[in-house]
Amino acid sequence: MSTASIHAGWDAQDPHGSVVPPIYSTSAYAHSSHASLRALFARRSEGFAYSRSGNPTTQVLEARSTALEGGIGAIAVASGQAAMTIALCALLAPGTHVVASERIYGGTTELLGDTLEDMGVAATAVDPWDLQAWEAAIRPQTRVFLLESIANPGAQLADLPAIAAIAHAHDIAVVVDSTLASPALYRPGDHGADIVVHSATKYLAGHGTTIAGLIVDAGSFDPRRCPQRWERLTTENRRFATTFADDYARGCSGLLAYARAKYMTDFGATLPAASAHAVLVGIETLELRMERISAVTAQLAQHLHGQDGVASVQHPSIPGRPDAEIARRDFPRGTAGVFSIDLDGGEPAVEAFCDALELFTIAVNIGDVRSLVCHPASTTHSHLTPAQREACGVLEGTVRLSIGLEDEEDLRADLERALAAAQRVRAADPAAA
Ligand SMILES: Cc1ncc(COP(=O)(O)O)c(C=O)c1O
Repeated sequence: MSTASIHAGWDAQDPHGSVVPPIYSTSAYAHSSHASLRALFARRSEGFAYSRSGNPTTQVLEARSTALEGGIGAIAVASGQAAMTIALCALLAPGTHVVASERIYGGTTELLGDTLEDMGVAATAVDPWDLQAWEAAIRPQTRVFLLESIANPGAQLADLPAIAAIAHAHDIAVVVDSTLASPALYRPGDHGADIVVHSATKYLAGHGTTIAGLIVDAGSFDPRRCPQRWERLTTENRRFATTFADDYARGCSGLLAYARAKYMTDFGATLPAASAHAVLVGIETLELRMERISAVTAQLAQHLHGQDGVASVQHPSIPGRPDAEIARRDFPRGTAGVFSIDLDGGEPAVEAFCDALELFTIAVNIGDVRSLVCHPASTTHSHLTPAQREACGVLEGTVRLSIGLEDEEDLRADLERALAAAQRVRAADPAAA
């Protein structure tokens, strides 16, 4: 992991000997002949024509992500949201159906319930820990199971091998958003995922500077096993005069080739080369950051558990969590830095808590080296219905914390100062407590 984080995808064959992958800041690529560009458009050769659909810097990031996830290919796109949108568009035709965990990022819930619904794709939300619910939600039209390996914001861990076994028995593809875990802690492909999606904005870039997304083909999805279910991949595509599923015969991802040719080109959700470079630099220290962040986060979560005014702490290390066994079995390196706490006293207590924090920054991001805090009910999950919020564990008093790389004692002191401020608000209004 640490060697691949630094070397995969880049052999330093730059004409100037650049040690770090250079930023190729160009819109288009010169070809030595008319025939060369023509062959590229006909998919008879490989290379670059125009940076909307591919760039040499971005290609290094794609190769590195493929290596880190142990997959057969990756495409880098403009954001995590673009990655999820493009992955689902490539898999889900109008009239199809997706079964999704109800414990997912609010933006993904909105994508399923609004934009994809407009496009004729139906979705059913299920409790990720209820295996019978996954099975019961399957329809003849179901093409995708969608879940997060570590859920945002309550850090619930999925029993991916069990969920994937149900999906694969019905020729359903398993898409896993592994943003919170990152490949340093968990490789979904090793546990049954077919497609892995990342918001590289978070731990991969790691420093709060960049918006980026990745789709990785883990190598287990093969539409040729059930050609009529994946007709858009297994029959000749009129626009591109090719059958994308044939790419699997060469060990390449036909799904990602289709996604790049069609959706990256049509949606134009291109990752700038400078952003790809920022993610590559971030990945170089990913493993070290995740190890330290996971350890400090577990300590802080346990410290907050049982404190006055903290109704509950949502972290796999808290006694009684149903995913404790999954943590032990599948997450030996830890479960990253995002978790949530439920404060007594509702939003007034949350407001006092957040405003009293001095080290934590109030911001709707996670996975930064800086510790961050937000109130999901009024921000990231505010467009959801109250029932949807409750299903994903977002209550009025829920606070999401994303632990960074500051000193653990300093963070602990900051959290205690904030809890005391929330306590003062409750004392002033005993009805709220
Ligand atoms: C788990 C998860 N997936 C996807 C996204 C969307 O990623 P981006 O903000 O890079 O578009 C986020 C954003 O917070 C997220 O937390």
